[in-house]
Amino acid sequence: MDGALTAVPADLPPDFLRAPLEIDLGCHRGRFVVSMAERYPDRRFLGVERQVGRVLRCRAKITRLGLGNAWVIAGEGLETLRERVPAGGAEVIHVSFPDPWPKRRHHVRRLVNAEFLRAAHGTLAAGGVLRLMTDDAPYFAAMEAAVAASAGFAPVPWDDGREYPETEFQRKFAEIGKPVYRLALRREATASA
Ligand SMILES: C[S@@+](CC[C@H](N)C(=O)[O-])C[C@H]1O[C@@H](n2cnc3c(N)ncnc32)[C@H](O)[C@@H]1O
Repeated sequence: MDGALTAVPADLPPDFLRAPLEIDLGCHRGRFVVSMAERYPDRRFLGVERQVGRVLRCRAKITRLGLGNAWVIAGEGLETLRERVPAGGAEVIHVSFPDPWPKRRHHVRRLVNAEFLRAAHGTLAAGGVLRLMTDDAPYFAAMEAAVAASAGFAPVPWDDGREYPETEFQRKFAEIGKPVYRLALRREATASA
């Protein structure tokens, strides 16, 4: 699966990475990216997904809908922030229901940790926001601990006055009444420790 990443051109439409840009890491089949792009036509939405089949399906949908402000690339979340998006290039980074990797020996595979926070800090524009959402309480506690140990982010209210469509997993968990934990963090001027 991951080995197939190279089989998909890592292409982006010309000039796509322009403000105002929002990034959805682990965008799955892109429901959130597509709905946001439809809802906010003056903003650009970039999905990042490691599973190539999902990327291709989502691209087909974006093309079918004629959405010029949405795209999805095949890639890893952390690497994409570090290597593909210009520093300060994103206004919002969304991370919704990242894989929790519950076994202790697998925690190292989790996307959100101190290293990720440093990369997100570098990618966000001044005042930009990182929005984290998970159904996994231990992972959420680990996210909060990583944030507490880092500099450069301040919690802000989750409700920012915008209407957000449900992600695929959010909808699934809402249907079975599973609790969801949320954290919105504004990028502060200080570099993340
Ligand atoms: C649990 S699903 C959540 C999907 C979506 N964000 C939602 O809320 O419906 C996690 C998704 O992230 C993708 N993923 C996992 N780790 C990733 C990584 N390091 N970089 C990019 N995508 C990743 C998985 O392939 C999967 O599609």
